[in-house]
Amino acid sequence: MTNLTGKKIIVVGGSSGIGFGVAAAALENGAEVVIVGRSADKLKAAEKRLGGAGRVTGISANMASETDVARLFEQAGAFDHLVATAGTPPPNYPVGEADMDFVRQFVDGKLIGAVMLAKHAARKLNEGGSMIFTSGINKDRPPVPGGSVVAAVAGSFTYFARALALELAPTRVNIVSPGWVDTEMWDEIVGAAKTGYFGEMGARIPAGRIATPADIAPAYLYLMQNEFMTGETVHIDGGQRLV
Ligand SMILES: NC(=O)c1ccc[n+]([C@@H]2O[C@H](COP(=O)([O-])OP(=O)(O)OC[C@H]3O[C@@H](n4cnc5c(N)ncnc54)[C@H](OP(=O)(O)O)[C@@H]3O)[C@@H](O)[C@H]2O)c1
Repeated sequence: MTNLTGKKIIVVGGSSGIGFGVAAAALENGAEVVIVGRSADKLKAAEKRLGGAGRVTGISANMASETDVARLFEQAGAFDHLVATAGTPPPNYPVGEADMDFVRQFVDGKLIGAVMLAKHAARKLNEGGSMIFTSGINKDRPPVPGGSVVAAVAGSFTYFARALALELAPTRVNIVSPGWVDTEMWDEIVGAAKTGYFGEMGARIPAGRIATPADIAPAYLYLMQNEFMTGETVHIDGGQRLV
């Protein structure tokens, strides 16, 4: 396992939720971290919460814009690991009622955005570097009805990583697939009803509770540090796929 001291890690989505947890854990392990999101205000607040003794920089960029993505990697310079956790609430209508503009916007932000990140990151990654993208439990346990688009997008990441791991070798490419994680995204999607959903699911899954971002971050750190992991999807869901 390599040490992260002095390594530079770009976390796209690092101003909130799972990405914030990865940024915090990487800092604890001695890395320098660049956090990326669209909102400059959210980035500033996250930089403050992370502390990081001068080892955190925020760069505002929208991963759905190739101009922004190209600028991001120019601005960040050479680096060691790319982590992409960014995402927005998925479409959740039954397919017969799908709002195609919203569907396209979601696919653009998550999947096309990941392709653009890979394209531009590959030019700046140091030797021994890696890319880690984020899928999720919705590919294994799709919400019914309304889960088809998010399941298709999340599921595609496994095969995206397998192909890229071959094409970009020796750069390693992996996926983290979390179960439910208590993040700001849930507040946005279900608001106060979160407590009820989490209570019910927490009681059903083997882990006995819903994960925090701090529970999930070690999976990303493991994939950065283990030089023999590539083309892999790591599930970290407290056993949620088993129930
Ligand atoms: N939470 C869960 O239960 C869970 C479970 C499995 C998988 N996931 C997946 O994990 C990912 C992260 O979820 P989360 O719960 O951590 O969400 P979150 O707390 O809402 O954080 C999302 C982060 O992504 C950034 N972001 C969103 N769209 C962006 C874009 N186009 N360009 C750049 N940055 C962007 C946000 O900042 P700005 O808004 O400022 O851009 C924020 O920093 C999502 O794709 C989600 O589907 C989540």
